[in-house]
This record gives sequence, structure tokens and C-alpha cells, in this order.
Amino acid sequence: MRRAVCPGSFDPVTNGHIDIVQRASTLFDEVVVAVGVNKSKNRLFSAEERIDMLREACSGFPNVSVDGFTGLLTDFCAQHGILAIVKGLRAVSDFDYELQMAQMNASLTDVETVFVPTSPEYSFLASSLVKEVATFGGDVSALVPDFVHRALTQRLAERMAEQA
Ligand code: PNS
Repeated sequence: MRRAVCPGSFDPVTNGHIDIVQRASTLFDEVVVAVGVNKSKNRLFSAEERIDMLREACSGFPNVSVDGFTGLLTDFCAQHGILAIVKGLRAVSDFDYELQMAQMNASLTDVETVFVPTSPEYSFLASSLVKEVATFGGDVSALVPDFVHRALTQRLAERMAEQA
């Protein structure tokens, strides 16, 4: 059984993430989407909301499951019998940091990192940009699943109301 992990913050999940998870699911017997729930960053969506969104987004992939994780990704891999970390690479600018993380993770355990090139139509796509564009009224409906778009619109409206 060859099991891989697709880790990330997924705040929120985008069509680019789903593309990578779907392609990973054709390469491995099982894929675990691991939602990082370390409390280090300001999130728009809670850990539970992000996990629920991932579950809905991945419901069509029979060999994909979704879990949250805290602490080190390599510990999560060891606990779940995961031999590979799958990461999407959008551009050369992603490579430096991703290579550093891959090498750090490999120094901690013998887990491999597999880089999957992002599909060209998603090469500009990042959760942070989706949130920024949506905050200022831009149309991001083609970049995230419909249910994520609805949740994003609602959450941003709530945030605006809180700040008013
Ligand atoms: O979507 P992101 O924010 O790029 O995801 C980053 C994530 C969650 C994959 C990364 O920060 C991570 O693996 N965090 C867990 C803590 C850890 O293992 N840190 C050492 C990385 S070398």
C-alpha cells in the first residue's frame, strides 16, 4: 500500500489544490489530505471549516481521505505510514522554499517529497490571493468550488460587518 500526503493550510481550498490532490490520487494507492492546524497564522476559516471544505471537495476521489494535523508533518507521516509528501510547484519562485522543506523533512525521517507541476491554468492561484481579490470585490468564482465561493463570500461579509 503506497500512501502519500498532500499537506497544506487550505485557507480556503482552491481548484489548484484539488487538481494536485486528484493527480496524486492517480499516483498512489491512498492519499491523505492533511490540513495544518498549527496556531501560527491568522486564518479566515477555522480548522474544522477547512477540513469540512476539503472533505466536500475530495468526496469524488475514492482513495482520498482528509485529516487535520498539528506539530511536525514528518510525525504525521510516521504515525500514518505515509512514504511520500506530494507538493504542487507553481513556478520557480515556489522551488527554493519547497526544496528547503523537502530536504528538512528528509533529514528528520526517510520520507520522500514528490513535486507535481501545477497545471498551467492554476499557476497563478494561491489561497492568499483568492482572499485578497475577494475582499475587494473581485470575481474568484472560477478559482474555487462553488460551495467554497459561497462560504468565502459569507465570511468576508461577516468580517466587514464586524469592522463596520
Ligand atoms: O499551504 P501552506 O501554508 O504552504 O502549508 C504549509 C505546511 C502546512 C505544509 C507546512 O507549514 C508544514 O508542513 N507545517 C507543519 C510543521 C512542520 O512540519 N514544519 C517543518 C517543515 S520543514
